[in-house]
Amino acid sequence: MQLYSMDSRDIQKIKEKFLKEISGTKKPDERKKVCKRYVEEELSSVFSSLKDLSGENKTSLGRAANELRQFILECLKEEKKEAIKEKEKIDVTLPGKITEAGSNHPITSLRGKCEEIFSKMGFAVVEGPELENEWYNFDALNFKEDHPVREMQDTLFVKQKERERLSSQEKLLMRTHTSPVQVRYMEKNDPPFRIIVPGRVFRNEATDSSHEINFYQLEGLMVGEKISVAHFKKVIGFFFRQLFEEEKISIRLRPSFFPFTEPSFEVDVSCSICSGKGCSVCSRTGWIEVMGAGMVHPNVLRSGKVDPGKFNGFAFGVGLDRIAMIQHKIDDIRLFYGGDLRFLKQF
Ligand code: FA5
Repeated sequence: MQLYSMDSRDIQKIKEKFLKEISGTKKPDERKKVCKRYVEEELSSVFSSLKDLSGENKTSLGRAANELRQFILECLKEEKKEAIKEKEKIDVTLPGKITEAGSNHPITSLRGKCEEIFSKMGFAVVEGPELENEWYNFDALNFKEDHPVREMQDTLFVKQKERERLSSQEKLLMRTHTSPVQVRYMEKNDPPFRIIVPGRVFRNEATDSSHEINFYQLEGLMVGEKISVAHFKKVIGFFFRQLFEEEKISIRLRPSFFPFTEPSFEVDVSCSICSGKGCSVCSRTGWIEVMGAGMVHPNVLRSGKVDPGKFNGFAFGVGLDRIAMIQHKIDDIRLFYGGDLRFLKQF
């Protein structure tokens, strides 16, 4: 096409060609491309040829080319709208997208169940800090300073500048058990009361099928007048019966030692994994240790500003991971924190 001889009739021809092309194109996206090509290629070469023209021809060709440009741009706008509509179209015959719902971690479910059972017996649910100080974790619980009994719980101490100069209230550690919350609660509340404290605890120990370095405990504390071991037995009996429902599980109490209880016990549950025959989880004994317990030591009541002459009580700390293992017959505690979805999806 010789541009110098163009006039407005040629613009009309371009328009007809454009309309023909557009009506022969089905998809909005492709029609958008046609519009762009006409604006950016066909019309832009018309505009660049204007400089070689003069007079009336230049004016009329320029006007006609501008009008066509406007017309194509309007078409382009329409095509964009069409393309959007096309994308938003809902085809109700298509299969729906499956969104996978998550589920609770077995320890979270167990914690909820325990809270429900203890609430039935009037226990309130209380929490405490995971980053604790030495005073609440040890001193207030009657652990004597520098006494080897502090080594019973392999502690993860927090690095602090000139730590040896700090007081035990300032020395930080990751709590090794939920028992410090006993004293924290007693300081602020007058007896009688009954509480449970579920939470995460940390120990620097070698892991095996029944030992983790981070696991869950649920502390229990009941303080009042004339509380006895009989109350304790009744409460944990109800707890275990409700928790294991129909299952045949036996419980036994063994004398033990904790600096913060006197007398102290350990509570074992029959091993559901080997049905008492002996396996690696129960160290071939047929029993799994799930709980430490005892009557609260008078010194601990004093730490919590409770008068041991007037009040007494019992306390216990149950390992939730071990209970979950018994519940679901899981033979390795490390599965709970391995993050393996094939394991977690079963709950
Ligand atoms: C204590 O931690 C005491 N604070 C419990 C207590 C509370 C006694 C109140 C008296 C009064 P112990 O270290 O035994 O005690 O731990 C209690 C329970 O936590 C154990 O019976 C066990 O079920 C669980 N447990 C202990 N160590 C681990 C571990 N490394 N991994 C998983 N569970 C553990």
